[in-house]
Amino acid sequence: MSTFMDMVYEKARKSPKRVVFPEGNDDRTIEAAVKATSLGVAKAILIGTPSKINETAAGKGFHLEGIDIIDIGNLPNLDVYIKEFFDLRKGKATMEEAAETMKKDVYYGAMMVRKGLADTFVAGAVNTTANVSRAAIYLIGMKPGIKTLSSFFVMILPDKTFGKDGILFYADGGFVIDPTDEQLADITVTTGATYRELMGEEPNIAMLSFSTKGSSKHERIDKVTRALALAKAKDPSLNIDGELQADAALLPSVAARKAPGSPVAGKANVLIFPDLDSGNIAYKLTERLAKAEALGPIYQGTAKPCSDLSRGCKATDILNCAAINVVRLQGSK
Ligand SMILES: CC(C)(COP(=O)(O)OP(=O)(O)OC[C@H]1O[C@@H](n2cnc3c(N)ncnc32)[C@H](O)[C@@H]1OP(=O)(O)O)[C@@H](O)C(=O)NCCC(=O)NCCS
Repeated sequence: MSTFMDMVYEKARKSPKRVVFPEGNDDRTIEAAVKATSLGVAKAILIGTPSKINETAAGKGFHLEGIDIIDIGNLPNLDVYIKEFFDLRKGKATMEEAAETMKKDVYYGAMMVRKGLADTFVAGAVNTTANVSRAAIYLIGMKPGIKTLSSFFVMILPDKTFGKDGILFYADGGFVIDPTDEQLADITVTTGATYRELMGEEPNIAMLSFSTKGSSKHERIDKVTRALALAKAKDPSLNIDGELQADAALLPSVAARKAPGSPVAGKANVLIFPDLDSGNIAYKLTERLAKAEALGPIYQGTAKPCSDLSRGCKATDILNCAAINVVRLQGSK
């Protein structure tokens, strides 16, 4: 396991939070909930069919002590939640659609977070990204001042000279395809806040481009500088600079030539990409060519942390997401 995840588990254990796992009928999810509980990183809640969960646990020799099970066939307060969902969607869903939606595991789990019955949810081992993201957007909602759900990656590089001991945050490599100025500003500010939550330190945020400080002229560069101004206005306490090329952001020698005086160039630990093409390509290249470990994509921007998973995930990935969310909750203001 990486040093980063060691740090996450150590912090999570100090103040575990309530994590609801809506996909409780999934074997990997049951394993993750059992391990989260036995490691002391979370108080786990499983939504599913109690007989199925008990059978799976018995078959694998797992102990379910300390884990709450919510029966998907007999969901508490369902009628109240259906009405609340209907009201929230303001005419965009009929009462029948609200009832159909609220009976679904991931929406019910998100509603539990909304109602303060859980602190975070981890789903997506079974549900599609569309369902997980809609549940997050509709029911948990965004942080004050933020309108955009986005995602980030923690990149852990073998070369410890980059970022914070080889740790860099990349955004957005997984969700917002072609951000507007406002969305790019949201992604920037949100990733800065996420870095603070998880690392407990101040981020140095570079807004990347193919140009450094006006070295080229193009509408795409203007988009980055407009988003930079918006991001600085949204959170003046963050150390952000742009537009910067990746080498100027990361290497002090290049920074000294291309961006002298920049508060970020040469020491960036958060890289903001102008669109999903560049963010997704960059994380995969870093993973393969630099032999980095990539953790994510992890959702950010919601009022409470929550996670989407890949449907090909393993129990360890689910457990890691839960632990990361616990630490983000501890660090959130
Ligand atoms: C989130 C998503 C599932 C919603 O899709 P949809 O329900 O078909 O319809 P829309 O895109 O119109 O969005 C529905 C609602 O979500 C909101 N929304 C969409 N994307 C959002 C985002 N990034 N942050 C916050 N809200 C968002 C819309 O404003 C809309 O709100 P409203 O219904 O209250 O007006 C869709 O936008 C999506 O799939 N996004 C991810 C894009 C993607 O595939 N990324 C790459 C993954 S590798």
